[in-house]
Amino acid sequence: MSRIGVFGGTFAPFHKGHLQALNAFLREARLDRCLVIPSGTPPHKTKPLSFTDAQRLEMTLLACEGLDRVSVCDRELRTEGRSYTCQTLAWLKKEFPQDTLVLYVGSDMLLTLQDWYRPEEIFASAQIAAFSRTGEDLEVLRLHAETLKAQFPTAEITVYTTPPFPVSSTEIREKWERGEDLSPLLPPRVDEYLTLQRYEAFLKTRLSQARFCHSVGVMKQAAVLAEIHGADVTKARIAGLLHDMTKEFSKEEHFRLFEKYHLALDENLKTNKNLWHAVSASVDLTESLGIADPQIAAAVRYHTTGKPNMTLLETILFVADLTDETRDYDDVDFYRALARENVEKAALVAMQWCKTDVERRGFEVHKDMIDGISYLSEKYPNVTEETEKKRMKYTR
Ligand SMILES: [Fe+2]
Ligand SMILES: [Fe+2]
Repeated sequence: MSRIGVFGGTFAPFHKGHLQALNAFLREARLDRCLVIPSGTPPHKTKPLSFTDAQRLEMTLLACEGLDRVSVCDRELRTEGRSYTCQTLAWLKKEFPQDTLVLYVGSDMLLTLQDWYRPEEIFASAQIAAFSRTGEDLEVLRLHAETLKAQFPTAEITVYTTPPFPVSSTEIREKWERGEDLSPLLPPRVDEYLTLQRYEAFLKTRLSQARFCHSVGVMKQAAVLAEIHGADVTKARIAGLLHDMTKEFSKEEHFRLFEKYHLALDENLKTNKNLWHAVSASVDLTESLGIADPQIAAAVRYHTTGKPNMTLLETILFVADLTDETRDYDDVDFYRALARENVEKAALVAMQWCKTDVERRGFEVHKDMIDGISYLSEKYPNVTEETEKKRMKYTR
């Protein structure tokens, strides 16, 4: 027989206060495991939430990833109509008939528990672990617990205190909408998720649907490659998502940024409009989104040409751009496999391919690409024969 905690909430977003409360719940209520349940349409909230159910679930999953004894349950989100705690507990009771359910409630929730839908069913299904958020209301909570026990004979209520976490989801949402730094308030993965959501919303105003999908594809592929090859996954996601952010700019828009940031363009760049967006995006990251990370900017800057001695992040973005899920040229699966195995070899093969393509279309190949090919060819002199052999095997 296990003690299973039930930790519900809107989690819009899941913040560090929730994590702190969850840890206190696991420890104080001596739980064997805990189910974190993002609420469906809660009866007590009438204001529309600024996050969709899918976003709330995603943030909850990200926040709870890797937590010992914790799992996320999406049952309430899958339930049509309003969700009531008594119904969720009745379902859990059926799922875990041998176990003891312990329901987490915060201060204000305990004080109104008698007004919830069918409180007697709640008390019959679960013990109540009430947590005072401030410590100051401890006495009030204890007194109210006694009143509830007198009113509902099956009620088992224990009152605990948690260290206060002085922030609310409403404040966090307001800060998020203003684009403020949320890293002190959110678990890192939730912070990253919300940042990317903001960038995605921005990109949608700039790019066609197809290019937006490609950008999301490059974000995912860059993250996969960063994970495999040990690069910074967050930076890879940001660089991947935003690498084409100025691709649909007019000539005037590109040149406004070149002039404003004193970007000297060589002769090749001046005339090759296909390369402009990499240069303008590398400064527009800061101008439009306040991203001032030089490694991300450099990866975006060289994503069209490559260059000699690229950093791992630069190499990953270059390759991810050509192997994301929206690409469907012949052998793309082979190149994806090669990128997972050795991203530099994949970059070399990709640069060689790009060089041939540029020449075929009658353009002059940029010096950065030529030098990039020379640099990697010295490192991997047999790459052409080697990959050709593998490709034949792969496609056979
Ligand atoms: Fe691009
Ligand atoms: Fe691209």
